[in-house]
Amino acid sequence: MKLGFGSLVVAAVLASTSQAQCPDYTTYSQKPHGTPSTGPLALPYMRPDPACRTFNSTAVEKVITDMKSLIRDPDIARLFENTFPNTLDTTVKYFNATENLAFIITGDITAQWLRDTANQFAHYHSLLALDPELAKLVKAVINNEARYVAEYPYCGAFQPPPESGLRPTHNDWADGVTVNPPVNNQTVFECKYEIDSLCGFLKLSRSYYQATKDASFINDNWKAAIRQIFRVINEQSQPTFDENFNFISYYNWTGGGGALSPQVNNHGNGEPKAYTGLVGTHHRPSDDLSVFAYLTPANAMLSVELQNLADVLDATGQLPDVSRDAKTWSSRVRDAIWKYTVVDNIFAYEVNGFGGRYVMDDANVPSLLSLPYLGFLDKKNPAYVATRKLLLSAKNPYFAAGKTFSGTGGPHVDPWHPWPMSQIAAIFGTDNDQEILKSLYTIANNTNGLGLIHESQSIYKSTEYTRPWFAWANSYFAEMILDLADRKPGLILKTNKSYKPGQ
Ligand SMILES: *[C@@H]1O[C@H](CO)[C@@H](O)[C@H](O)[C@H]1NC(C)=O
Ligand SMILES: *[C@@H]1O[C@H](CO)[C@@H](O)[C@H](O)[C@H]1NC(C)=O
Ligand SMILES: *[C@@H]1O[C@H](CO)[C@@H](O)[C@H](O)[C@H]1NC(C)=O
Ligand SMILES: *[C@@H]1O[C@H](CO)[C@@H](O)[C@H](O)[C@H]1NC(C)=O
Ligand SMILES: *[C@@H]1O[C@H](CO)[C@@H](O)[C@H](O)[C@H]1NC(C)=O
Ligand SMILES: *[C@@H]1O[C@H](CO)[C@@H](O)[C@H](O)[C@H]1NC(C)=O
Repeated sequence: MKLGFGSLVVAAVLASTSQAQCPDYTTYSQKPHGTPSTGPLALPYMRPDPACRTFNSTAVEKVITDMKSLIRDPDIARLFENTFPNTLDTTVKYFNATENLAFIITGDITAQWLRDTANQFAHYHSLLALDPELAKLVKAVINNEARYVAEYPYCGAFQPPPESGLRPTHNDWADGVTVNPPVNNQTVFECKYEIDSLCGFLKLSRSYYQATKDASFINDNWKAAIRQIFRVINEQSQPTFDENFNFISYYNWTGGGGALSPQVNNHGNGEPKAYTGLVGTHHRPSDDLSVFAYLTPANAMLSVELQNLADVLDATGQLPDVSRDAKTWSSRVRDAIWKYTVVDNIFAYEVNGFGGRYVMDDANVPSLLSLPYLGFLDKKNPAYVATRKLLLSAKNPYFAAGKTFSGTGGPHVDPWHPWPMSQIAAIFGTDNDQEILKSLYTIANNTNGLGLIHESQSIYKSTEYTRPWFAWANSYFAEMILDLADRKPGLILKTNKSYKPGQ
């Protein structure tokens, strides 16, 4: 049985003529293909036929060749080979460098998510300086997203740009939803307000700059988007009531009571929040409703990315006023995280500023487990070490462990389906070799023999998983393997010598 998104989405974007004969990858990814790897897991080869790949990069192929010869365990090598190119192999539905526009789908959901794309490309950053076409693609993704954010800063998932000629996809989950400010469903796929979506856009932008030193992505669309991001930050850091008890609402979202679009209390505003210096969110990175508005890991990512934004603006001499605001907000948010979310060295996942805290973790990055990955703190920070210990135990409501699989999940699927992504985040958060290997093989052993990283996996039944085609999870896995090849080469490579793409 499959659960969650994958089984619900039927519509697919019409592929170009040359790819008309190519199998739908949602179906393709549910059956093993090719010659199995020679390790005990005998994992299949899951890359689509070359003619069916949606983008080719010689720099990416070089990394695959290098890593295949370097990785000790042929099963891990096969996982890398399948996952590293997955975004380029399968999700580039439109790209025109002249128009500076690209449309990237998440995998088995045919829409572009701001959060997913930032993560889908994170493991290619070091290649942007080596492959000019790949750099152009990422720049085109940024420009397309800049247009989305400039018009709909509260939304996180979008339809193809009109220039592409691709048809918008109907979104069942948006049926019956009332959202303010209102949106046009020809542009917006889903308008759940999640502050980390905007952080994703910032992360993709600054990574592009860091890798290429090319400032040409800073155009009018991008500047408009940045100003909108600060509008959202200002609006969503305000408390529920002003000092005269006037109700403040800049965004509200509510459904008709169905499971996919539930009714939200307080007329679509959710639980009240007090002023803290944190920035509120309405939904989580999982697209589930927040319990309390101040989501700690999303604010951590915001603090990090605002400082990065300021660094890029300073280096390029652009928008000095925005750079000043970015620095102010970055430290305000960071200070508020330490002041309002930490008690006895334990981070809460969410707080409301009135003393309400929800101690848990949800698998989607930004998560508490991923705080070191996000760049918010060092993995040895005592508060992280203590929080991590709690999160990877039965004290976390969304931790679950079975005979073969364990990790943190979330209410997006259910408590007995932890996500491989949580184990990836856990690897980024430790230097302990045994912990790393345990997490790595927990993931590798649980692909249902399909050699790709899924959304979630049942702790009761190894054949029960969600989302056969989830590009972000594949990219995140490959990013982690590359990180290990650099940080802990002796653990996974044949030699104890660091490997970095392009060096
Ligand atoms: C990628 O290369 C293959 C040949 O190896 C070709 O058939 C395919 O059309 C190329 N894909 C794109 C998007 O250019
Ligand atoms: C890209 O867009 C330009 C401008 O709209 C158009 O002239 C050109 O034909 C497009 N290129 C491709 C390969 O579709
Ligand atoms: C957009 O909304 C209209 C009106 O509710 C609906 O008929 C149409 O199917 C929607 N289009 C998409 C792509 O969801
Ligand atoms: C919903 O948000 C809009 C702004 O987008 C605001 O004008 C309206 O008052 C809000 N409604 C409620 C019930 O909070
Ligand atoms: C993975 O599976 C192998 C058997 O193929 C087993 O020896 C190993 O303990 C498993 N590792 C984990 C972390 O589950
Ligand atoms: C690899 O080298 C580092 C020091 O450079 C050492 O600490 C580590 O134990 C070595 N790992 C293996 C598996 O040999």
